[in-house]
Amino acid sequence: MSEWGSFTEIIKAKGMWLTDTSGNNLLDGVASMWCNVWGHSKPELVNAILKQSKKLQHSSMFNLTNEPAEKLAKSLVEISPGMYKVFYSDNGSSAMEIALKLALQYWNNIGEVKKTKIATLENGYHGDTFGAMSVGYIPEFFGKFKKQLFSTIQIPVPNEYRIPKGFTFQDYQNTCLEKIENKFLKDNKIAAFVMESGAQVAGGVIIFPKYFQSKISKLCKKYNILLVLDEIATGFGRLGSMTQYTEQKSSPDIVAYGKMLTGGYMTMAATLTNKKIYDSFLGKFNDWKHLFHGHTFTGNPIAAAVANENLNLYKKNNLIKKIQKTSKIFEQYYETLYKNELVGNIRHKGMLMGIELVKDKKNKIPINPKKSINKIIFEEGKKQGIYLRTLGNIVMLVPPLAITEKELDLLLVKTVKTIKSAQNQLI
Ligand SMILES: Cc1ncc(COP(=O)(O)O)c(C=O)c1O
Repeated sequence: MSEWGSFTEIIKAKGMWLTDTSGNNLLDGVASMWCNVWGHSKPELVNAILKQSKKLQHSSMFNLTNEPAEKLAKSLVEISPGMYKVFYSDNGSSAMEIALKLALQYWNNIGEVKKTKIATLENGYHGDTFGAMSVGYIPEFFGKFKKQLFSTIQIPVPNEYRIPKGFTFQDYQNTCLEKIENKFLKDNKIAAFVMESGAQVAGGVIIFPKYFQSKISKLCKKYNILLVLDEIATGFGRLGSMTQYTEQKSSPDIVAYGKMLTGGYMTMAATLTNKKIYDSFLGKFNDWKHLFHGHTFTGNPIAAAVANENLNLYKKNNLIKKIQKTSKIFEQYYETLYKNELVGNIRHKGMLMGIELVKDKKNKIPINPKKSINKIIFEEGKKQGIYLRTLGNIVMLVPPLAITEKELDLLLVKTVKTIKSAQNQLI
């Protein structure tokens, strides 16, 4: 990390713009790590925080509850077909740890103690804690901890840009699904299948082909395996719908939200389950069926209050419809972007775009400069007045969801310029 001598310090932000100590304004192309919905300093959200902070700043959810968290749980269940109860945490990784514990303990609670294995897709990402690293194993990120991670069954994921030789995309999808079915058929110890919903984001913006997730969901039902979906990065409108799992015609037993839940203002995540899972945890005290899990800041009232206001604004502004329109701006830039000799592949859905940079378009060889690509793109982006971050050789465009068409257009114009001006350093 020595290449990062100092960091740009952000002192304030308004709308889609971040301001640093030197007075530079940067258009937020990262949605402050994929969580910002309305832009910064949105009065309604700030007021929700102020109002709640005067009444009750924090009160434990151990033995107690609080009004904003109760209200939010009701709203989350309302927007999540098939879900029944909510378990709060304060970050996405924890929400996924909870999802794993719920799934594993469910089988134990109903007496199926042999069902202890987890199956996942290769290249998924579910957070940086040990359970999350085990199920969302990206070798470049987590290789150094491999020995300490628990083992999972990993199934390849169909990436249209990198299909193994000899396959069509359709063949390869079928192969991946057959692999899942074969595992399910042969191994009755599998407790759950865990995957991101709609797309793998940190693993390189791999957008699932139509029906892929729905077929996995059907296989899970057929073989009596729980489906755990991670909507932390892809739900709440990022891919163009409130819940990706409904768009994908899949029916999870457990689903996790985070990031955009509070509009990106406070730290909060939620793990939702259906009634079947919830009911399995009910029992007399001495049955020991309850879940041993809780965080200090679980159900924090300020975070819940701002999340309630955030959900209110989604409805009031018809945000999902607006996103569907705004996101068309991305498509207008495919051609311009592809003209750049480094742009090998563009993957886009809703308010998410991944631009994969390669040094050889024909052979799809990723660029591999001496300095980190992220640093080069960040610095060039900053000169253009935008904040960008890359994941490996992929430039990620993940703006705040309510960005206007005009601002998104500007972000794309400047992204094109950034890649061009960075080109000499990238090859
Ligand atoms: C799909 C997915 N799951 C889980 C997480 C972890 O969330 P957090 O960073 O809040 O722990 C992330 C974070 O990027 C994510 O993209």
